Amino acid sequence: MKIAIFCFSGTGNTYRVAKTLCETIRQTDHCDLYALENHLEDADRLIETYDIVGLGYPIYGSSLPSIVFRFIEALSAHQKKAFVFCTQLLFSGDGAAYGGRQLEKKGFVVLWQEHFLMPNNITDLRIFDRRKPYDFARIDRSITKKAVRFTRWILAGKEHRKGSNPISLFLGLLQRIPYGSMNPERLAQSVRIDSKRCVRCGACVKLCPLANLRQTQEGIITQKRCTLCYRCVNHCPTHAIRLFGNGFVRYAYHGPTSGFAIESVKNDELDHTDP
Ligand SMILES: Cc1cc2nc3c(=O)[nH]c(=O)nc-3n(C[C@H](O)[C@H](O)[C@H](O)COP(=O)(O)O)c2cc1C
Repeated sequence: MKIAIFCFSGTGNTYRVAKTLCETIRQTDHCDLYALENHLEDADRLIETYDIVGLGYPIYGSSLPSIVFRFIEALSAHQKKAFVFCTQLLFSGDGAAYGGRQLEKKGFVVLWQEHFLMPNNITDLRIFDRRKPYDFARIDRSITKKAVRFTRWILAGKEHRKGSNPISLFLGLLQRIPYGSMNPERLAQSVRIDSKRCVRCGACVKLCPLANLRQTQEGIITQKRCTLCYRCVNHCPTHAIRLFGNGFVRYAYHGPTSGFAIESVKNDELDHTDP
């Protein structure tokens, strides 16, 4: 069986889960992992060569990052089996089912959905400040266990559709409606850069998944198409960037996996061989 996973990850959490799913599948079957941000236009060509397609993303207000909507919208119809997984800090209600429904509109048969709890990456809001560091070893163990179980269900063809019941849908709506009412266009303009702190190193420009940031003579400017992934906020060396927050980042979040560089996502150095 040939499986492709398309994953978006702002700060590494979703990538961590995707990598474990991919490695587990590879023990018996073929699996390729793609950074969705690098395949916004050509995913159709890739999908054609696989039996099952996986989609992974971080939850934003029980909804999907705008870049993931864009990825799905660009797809043609495919009658392929699919699985969806999302990472979240606390709760999304029907977060994976919501993504599943978007894929179903494109003809996919979504048989598997799962949620994974992961650390928070919103680091410019004081209410989320942490006194204690995360226990990454514990998180790693629980993610691996869940990912391995999820993979077994996929490979065995046993349906598992987390978040598909009416209560989950209701809880999802409780977050999705207020989040949606925040006006996506206004959210896409959310990046604020403090020109006094900014040293114009260009790290944010290089890492942005949507080329939203541009370096000019006047400094970094934004193009109003932010997907709210918090990658620039967490990787700015002088903590000059914020999104929702009322304060600048004090403890940047660089993902759950030691040695993981978000640059490898940007450069599409994930685990795949182009068919
Ligand atoms: C804009 C935004 C909205 C979020 N909304 C939720 C939410 O509704 N529920 C939740 O549990 N976590 C929420 N989170 C937390 C992320 O989903 C979580 O940290 C995720 O694992 C980040 O994944 P990544 O590192 O792959 O980008 C939100 C994060 C961001 C940046």
